[in-house]
Amino acid sequence: MGKTNGGAAMIEFRGIRKVYVTGNQSLEALRDLTLEIGRGEFVSIMGPSGSGKSTLMNIIGCLDTPTEGEYRLEGRNVAGLTLDQLAAIRNKTIGFVFQNFNLLPYATAWENVELPLLFNGKKGRQRRERVAELLSAVGLLDWKEHRPSELSGGQQQRIALARALANDPPLILADEPTGNLDSKSGEEIMALLGRLWREGRTIVMVTHDDRIASHSERTISLFDGRLE
Ligand SMILES: Nc1ncnc2c1ncn2[C@@H]1O[C@H](COP(=O)(O)OP(=O)(O)OP(=O)(O)O)[C@@H](O)[C@H]1O
Ligand SMILES: [Mg+2]
Repeated sequence: MGKTNGGAAMIEFRGIRKVYVTGNQSLEALRDLTLEIGRGEFVSIMGPSGSGKSTLMNIIGCLDTPTEGEYRLEGRNVAGLTLDQLAAIRNKTIGFVFQNFNLLPYATAWENVELPLLFNGKKGRQRRERVAELLSAVGLLDWKEHRPSELSGGQQQRIALARALANDPPLILADEPTGNLDSKSGEEIMALLGRLWREGRTIVMVTHDDRIASHSERTISLFDGRLE
């Protein structure tokens, strides 16, 4: 798992604002958000549609930057980093899981999981062993030659989770990971996320579903870009 940086929290937001400007309209999606998520916490983010949940996740994931305020990830001020440094942090520190799985449609399950390892320069046999280990961990090694369209939604999300874990990140960000799944597949994903949490990872998950949120330790509620 990723290196730690002293006793700093995993995620620290201080006075975060996010304003989207489109044409001559501006929209304040996050308003003066201050919050802390500790290492090893399992947190749900809830709130109505448009309340800023995905905006918050994108900033946590270094996919977008705040308009104002300070964001520290493992104690590191993200604002000062170059795009290359941000990409390196995403690759090493964060595993992403999305509602729509975001798998490459023409790649097999094996190739989807292998991709982040290729980006990370992992070679030959070590890489193959890691892919096999990851696919086994989500119970899908026998499905390695299948493409996403030949897999159920639940299976696709398990492949996406295996891919998210490829570089063994300490932080998993999941934006409505069960949103497109039936309840049984959703519970399977939650069981996997629960296991990753017990292994010591920090999990931040957006959900609309109280039953899904009950798997986490703490719920952060957003309303209109503010903490409720
Ligand atoms: N790229 C963007 N450009 C302009 N406005 C945006 C952009 N992304 C989000 N918004 C606006 O910011 C607000 C917050 O959006 P966000 O996607 O964070 O909400 P959400 O809580 O994730 O909603 P949902 O539950 O529907 O996914 C919304 O009013 C949305 O229209
Ligand atoms: Mg959203």
